[in-house]
Amino acid sequence: MAEDSGPKDSAMVKAQNVSKIYSSGAIKVEALRGINLEVRTSEMIAIMGPSGCGKTTLLNCLSGLDDLTGGKVIIDGVDVHKMSDNRKSEFRAKKMGFIFQSYNLLPVLSALENVELPLIISHVDEKLARRKAIEALSLVGLEEWKDHRPSELSGGQQQRVAIARSLANSPSIIWADEPTGNLDSENSLEIISLLRKLNREVGLTLIVVTHDQAVASQTDRIVVMRNGQIVRTKDTSSPPSLSSSTELDEDNSNE
Ligand SMILES: Nc1ncnc2c1ncn2[C@@H]1O[C@H](COP(=O)(O)OP(=O)(O)O)[C@@H](O)[C@H]1O
Ligand SMILES: [Mg+2]
Repeated sequence: MAEDSGPKDSAMVKAQNVSKIYSSGAIKVEALRGINLEVRTSEMIAIMGPSGCGKTTLLNCLSGLDDLTGGKVIIDGVDVHKMSDNRKSEFRAKKMGFIFQSYNLLPVLSALENVELPLIISHVDEKLARRKAIEALSLVGLEEWKDHRPSELSGGQQQRVAIARSLANSPSIIWADEPTGNLDSENSLEIISLLRKLNREVGLTLIVVTHDQAVASQTDRIVVMRNGQIVRTKDTSSPPSLSSSTELDEDNSNE
């Protein structure tokens, strides 16, 4: 990363006292309650916690897909929620990639066309878009499958196409919401090793929501949420005796 970035800038994501209240009629849901979180450049973290605790809301609020009720989010030095909607979309398209549980591939398009599509929407020149899409597909090991449609690919392969699509614009950050939620354990491990490899080799900052302890343990740090708050973080590189892995196991069994 840039050598002139001081210690303050080593954070890719900085969330300060972030809150989110959904209101529909008289009913108010406090989905996020005072979240403070920093993610370093090129760090890979997992966000865990029971269903409904606010994990998806957190990703949406941090990435600027959704508005905040209170607090502040700084991404790579930029205050995300101060930007106009247009600038925010542009910022996201340049800087971020997204991966979802359900792959979200268009069934009538080939793997290559699915990867190309966001580039073409962002007005990248056709030839350049094709080159970038092929590069991204080869990064995930699917160059030979480029002409296949999603229905002709396994779940693991479809998720790799979705990962290639998220990489095609050379983002700095990837947000992944339960990326292995529809996969068996073997494919889950393959996907998480691929994400880990991209994190290490390309220096991507990766924020992965997961229910799967095996997936989470591949990351640098596990952040545990409960009821709209961060209740614990565990540095996975620290010796086991210093961390509370039994508590994390409990969290998992509650889901
Ligand atoms: N668009 C929405 N409108 C109202 N409530 C919502 C909306 N999205 C999420 N919620 C509520 O916010 C809380 C957190 O949801 P979510 O972030 O989806 O949790 P998780 O991803 O951890 O399962 C839940 O109580 C959920 O019902
Ligand atoms: Mg969710």
